[in-house]
Amino acid sequence: MSSLTFPILQVLADGNFHSGEALAQQFKVTRATIWNAVKHAETLGVEVFSVRGRGYKLPQAIELLDKNEVLKAIGEQRAWFKLEVLDEVASTNTYLMQQKGAAHATCVVAHVQTHGKGRRGRTWISQLGASLTFSLLWRFQCGAAALSGLSLAVGVALIRALMSLGVNNAQLKWPNDVLVDGKKLAGILIELQGDLEGPSAAVIGVGFNLNLPKNVLESIDQPAIDLTTIKQINQSELLGVLLKHLADVLSSFEAHGFIGLRNEWLRYHAYENKPVRMLLPDGRDVQGMVKGVADDGILLVETALGLQRFSAGEISLRGLE
Ligand code: BTN
Repeated sequence: MSSLTFPILQVLADGNFHSGEALAQQFKVTRATIWNAVKHAETLGVEVFSVRGRGYKLPQAIELLDKNEVLKAIGEQRAWFKLEVLDEVASTNTYLMQQKGAAHATCVVAHVQTHGKGRRGRTWISQLGASLTFSLLWRFQCGAAALSGLSLAVGVALIRALMSLGVNNAQLKWPNDVLVDGKKLAGILIELQGDLEGPSAAVIGVGFNLNLPKNVLESIDQPAIDLTTIKQINQSELLGVLLKHLADVLSSFEAHGFIGLRNEWLRYHAYENKPVRMLLPDGRDVQGMVKGVADDGILLVETALGLQRFSAGEISLRGLE
C-alpha cells in the first residue's frame, strides 16, 4: 500500500492531466514514487490513464467525500456521530465488527472497499467516486433477539433520506433492498453482536450505487441502477442526510420496535399484493402473493399451503410480473 495513492487521487479527482513531474514536486518525492502510487491505485480497481508527455488522468472527474460536508448535512444530530473516513478497507462492516470497543454511532465510510460483502454471501461491487459504502455501529439495550425488524427499519430511513433529497420514487424490496424502477439502487447488510438477551450492537452496512460505469452496472447479478441516472446528489450530502434519518429511525426503533414503522414500510413496499417467487435456503422454490409484513418484520405470503411467514435470513425473493 502506498500512503501517497489517495493524496494523488485527490489531485487527479478534477479529471485533468497532471504530469508526473508536477506531482513529484508537489509531494516532494521522485517520479518513480508517483508511478508506484498510481500502480497501487490500479490494484484497487481505479483506472488511471498514463500518457507520455502529458502525465496522469482519471477517465472522468470524480467527487470524493468531504468530512465537513457530511457533518454539515447531518445537522443538529452531528454530535451523536463519530465519523471515520478510510481511504481503503476490505469491508467497512468487517472493519467495524472487529473494533470491539467502538463507540455507539461510529460511522466508517470508505473511499474504496476491496472486499465488499452483500447479503447471502455475495460480493458488493463498488468503485472509487462511483459508490457510497459505509457502516454504522448502533448499540441497543435490548438483546439481539429483539432486533428482527431492524433491517426493515433501516430501509425506511434510506427512503426518508432519498425523499428529503427529492427522490420520491424509491421503493423497498423485502427485507431491505432499495429499488428505483424495479432496479437496485442500494443494499443493506446488518451484522449483529452481543447476547440474545442484551445488550447488543448492530453493524449496519449500506452500499449505494452512485455513478457506476455501464459495464459495471451490467455486471451486477440483478438489475441495478445508480443515483446519477435519477438525480445529481453530492455524496457527502447524501451520507449526512442518510445518517440524520438513520439516527431518527433507530431511536424510534429502540423505543417502539418495528411496529411503529410498519405502516410506513408498507407504503414503500414494491411487492405488496404482488406475485413473488422465493428460493429458500433448503432449496425449496415457493410461489405466492405477498400480504405485507408482520410486526416483527416477517414477510407474509399467501401460498398454496395458506398464509406463510418467512424470516429474512437467506431467502432470495423475485417478482413474478
Ligand atoms: C446487499 O444488498 O446484498 C447488501 C449490500 C451491503 C453493502 C454494504 S457496502 C458497506 C458495507 N460493507 C460491506 O462489506 N457491505 C456493506
